[in-house]
Amino acid sequence: MTVSNFKSAHRLITGYQASSELWPQVQRLGMQRPLVITDRGVLQSGTLKLITDQLNAVDYAIYDGVTPEPEVAIVEACTDTFRTGEHDGLIAVGGGSAMDIAKCVAVYAQHDGPLHELFGEGQVRQRNIPLIAIPTTAGTGSEVTNISILSDAEQQMKKGIVSDHLLPDVAIVAPEMSQSCPRSVTAASGVDALVHAIEAYLSNFATPITDALATKAMELIIRALPKAFANPENIQAREDMATGSLMAGLAFGNAGVGAVHALAYPLGGRYHLAHGVSNALLLPHVMEWNKLACVERFRGIAVAFGEPIDNLTDDEAAERVIRRLHRLCADVEIPAGLRSFDIPESALPELAAEAIKVDRLLRNNPRKLVLADIEAIYRAAY
Ligand SMILES: NC(=O)c1ccc[n+]([C@@H]2O[C@H](COP(=O)([O-])OP(=O)(O)OC[C@H]3O[C@@H](n4cnc5c(N)ncnc54)[C@H](O)[C@@H]3O)[C@@H](O)[C@H]2O)c1
Ligand SMILES: [Fe+2]
Repeated sequence: MTVSNFKSAHRLITGYQASSELWPQVQRLGMQRPLVITDRGVLQSGTLKLITDQLNAVDYAIYDGVTPEPEVAIVEACTDTFRTGEHDGLIAVGGGSAMDIAKCVAVYAQHDGPLHELFGEGQVRQRNIPLIAIPTTAGTGSEVTNISILSDAEQQMKKGIVSDHLLPDVAIVAPEMSQSCPRSVTAASGVDALVHAIEAYLSNFATPITDALATKAMELIIRALPKAFANPENIQAREDMATGSLMAGLAFGNAGVGAVHALAYPLGGRYHLAHGVSNALLLPHVMEWNKLACVERFRGIAVAFGEPIDNLTDDEAAERVIRRLHRLCADVEIPAGLRSFDIPESALPELAAEAIKVDRLLRNNPRKLVLADIEAIYRAAY
């Protein structure tokens, strides 16, 4: 085993009603004028009140201008609000979109150059602004990862800032925060979390630590996601999803994700599909492709899924896994096939040309891909 360096938010606060633990953290971090970064969906759902009700003793403000799959311009707008309001801390309350914006603002607000200087890996020099992340979806795991993803409308692609300075000071992961999620968001963000666990487990950079997190995350999510989708009020299912997505975030934040994510990015960038939906469309097809490289690892996934595989070969166990993934996506009503999203078949070569550039993720994938392989996977997923 090579040396690994495990990364997380500095403090994790989890469990039912963990949201009520915000105030001591605000005090501990010395925030007097925090800016709460969220979006209108979270605000209007009433869930934000669980957070703002604890902030009456400080001079807080709310920025609710985050949009799903947020664009670079939102970082600029939100940073303006932060600077002109002379805020001294950030509290992200939302899905991956709000958390990613808050992470960017935390490093950009004290950067004296343009935002684009921070794109890529390891370009951020410092962060002095305290940052608390409270996810309302289950979820992206962004509360514990060192990456922020933004959409670039001009270049029609997704861009990222990767830096350990993005890791929040505190992550508060509580099931009551996701109870108001619309069904489609529960489904898409839940599949995203499962993909994080699976891709981390199959990653070339998996370690025994990320394996333990990833397999437990798979076990929790495969059972809880259909339940949370079928009954949003099911707090036990919400808690299992919250814990599962956090563990998946810790796993992929350290082992990385692979070809599912690499091929999903161009779909988000060009056709604005929700991140979890893009992943769901590609997941079974990339799994079919990866099987050849590491079929024994698929057996580990089948065990986490609770499949009865004692008398099966590795190949048969892998087939069970892929069938179960198809069924999960159907159960949570994510349409199968890129064609369901008005993506023209003629666009597949361009999508493949975009995806092959995502070397940052493709290098984690257990089976190597060349351009023709990627195009073939898009065709299979069409
Ligand atoms: N940084 C990372 O590590 C990481 C990992 C995966 C994905 N992402 C990014 O995260 C984004 C997707 O995030 P997401 O899937 O969490 O969705 P999201 O943050 O885009 O939210 C989707 C919709 O759900 C609504 N919503 C969220 N929580 C709600 C709640 N509790 N009640 C009512 N409405 C609610 C929002 O208002 C929004 O309209 C993408 O931009 C993706 O690229 C980042
Ligand atoms: Fe993801």
